[in-house]
Amino acid sequence: MKSTFFAGALAALTSSASVVSAQTYNQTGPFFLQVKSDNATLNGRYLYACHSGAAQETLCIGKVDTPATNRASASFFWNTTVYEGEQSPVGALIWNLALAQNPDGTSMVVSSPMTLDYTPGTNVATTRFGPSEIDRSVQVGFNNSVMYMTWWNDDSTFLPGQYPTGGSSREITNWNLCWVLAGSYYYNALAWVTSGAPHNPTCEAVSVVKVEPSA
Ligand SMILES: *[C@@H]1O[C@H](CO)[C@@H](O)[C@H](O)[C@H]1NC(C)=O
Ligand SMILES: *[C@@H]1O[C@H](CO)[C@@H](O)[C@H](O)[C@H]1NC(C)=O
Ligand SMILES: *[C@@H]1O[C@H](CO)[C@@H](O)[C@H](O)[C@H]1NC(C)=O
Ligand SMILES: *[C@@H]1O[C@H](CO)[C@@H](O)[C@H](O)[C@H]1NC(C)=O
Repeated sequence: MKSTFFAGALAALTSSASVVSAQTYNQTGPFFLQVKSDNATLNGRYLYACHSGAAQETLCIGKVDTPATNRASASFFWNTTVYEGEQSPVGALIWNLALAQNPDGTSMVVSSPMTLDYTPGTNVATTRFGPSEIDRSVQVGFNNSVMYMTWWNDDSTFLPGQYPTGGSSREITNWNLCWVLAGSYYYNALAWVTSGAPHNPTCEAVSVVKVEPSA
């Protein structure tokens, strides 16, 4: 009895190990994130990681239309999984937090994935980077460099008692620049509006475009 159990457990372990080995990871970047907007004040400006707490950042809008003034803060990465040779269309948006310098002058880097902070009183979720595991519900893709997130169904089409069918992955681009509280800081930052008009009146809808550094 016992040996059967162990044989089964071993088989399960072996097969899950082979599944794991079929999956690899891919990181691309660094790249910049640029805002596109009908509003000329916002259009062309870059996003950068701004301090919002201990080892935490949010995605603030920069004052200028060049990321070069603070290149490390404006440099992002994209971590995707590759399963049996096929790259996932969405992945984690990453910012590398540089910690205290090593004795040789280089810094220790903590790969920090973006997540979204939802609060009960609003449909505006704030962006946050921090050292943690990748949040599988907050993954981004790029369609012609335009950043989106995906969701499988659309509950605005649901009917009572009818299990929804035909759900397919949709690209959603509900990015807004809003004045938000990020930790205890008040920033004009990138936020995600879950659906409908933003509850926060300072929000302005924008597109976010991935830009390869030219040098
Ligand atoms: C890693 O991602 C880049 C950009 O999407 C892609 O060109 C490359 O083929 C990927 N590598 C693998 C092993 O999938
Ligand atoms: C453009 O954006 C700026 C900065 O957020 C804002 O002060 C201004 O009201 C906006 N203009 C329009 C026409 O929406
Ligand atoms: C992102 O990918 C890089 C390169 O594979 C890896 O070193 C890093 O740990 C990954 N980040 C996270 C949060 O998993
Ligand atoms: C990608 O963007 C183009 C142009 O905006 C759009 O026509 C197309 O439907 C998008 N692709 C998907 C899969 O949504």
